[in-house]
Amino acid sequence: MGTTSNRRKRLVVLVSGSGSNLQAIIDACADEQLPAEVVAVVSNKPDVFALQRADASGVPAVHMGVHPGEERSDYDARLADVVAGFDPDLVVLAGWMRILTMSFLGWFPQRVVNLHPALPGELPGTDAIARAWDEAVGGTRTQSGVMVHLVPDEGVDDGPVLGTAIVPIDVQAGFDAFAALVHQAEHRLLVDTLGDLCSTSPSPATSPALSEVSA
Ligand code: GRF
Repeated sequence: MGTTSNRRKRLVVLVSGSGSNLQAIIDACADEQLPAEVVAVVSNKPDVFALQRADASGVPAVHMGVHPGEERSDYDARLADVVAGFDPDLVVLAGWMRILTMSFLGWFPQRVVNLHPALPGELPGTDAIARAWDEAVGGTRTQSGVMVHLVPDEGVDDGPVLGTAIVPIDVQAGFDAFAALVHQAEHRLLVDTLGDLCSTSPSPATSPALSEVSA
């Protein structure tokens, strides 16, 4: 895994929803902007549009639901098994809305990358875009942003930062305009950061320099 410098990096992308970030990755791979290929897409939710996007691009699309009463660690061990079967250089959490335990993360040290629609240390968890907006409307915030970071452990939206981008909030323009800017920033930052990681050899996510990259 990840020991050959010139081959395209193998990405497994974990999703839970629409998959617009997945699409940005697939498109960037297709137009050679990203020296990588998406070798599988795994969703914890059935029937999400992200799985259709994978299908449409000829990428294996796997739904892995949680069994009734299944312990989180057991699900994560099953998930690790499935993901490891695709031999990824990187595992990309692109709209993956489920906390991962060490039962999964322990199998992919320095190789799990998360995207979060807020700046480091701000607004961890769900609905970060809406919470940033509410704070802006309340007069306590003028900007938010997006970040891409490594996932070393079970901390939520926390870990060594690989890249960030600031998104200003214009309350006159409305929430939808702000959300659209955040999503644009996510797509760009995710592709750029993966580009940095995938161009680094031999083991992309372990270079100390990458923790200093900032968009
Ligand atoms: C993104 O805003 C991501 O940061 C958040 O969920 C959204 C997923 O969007 N965690 P998509 O499924 O990639 O369109």
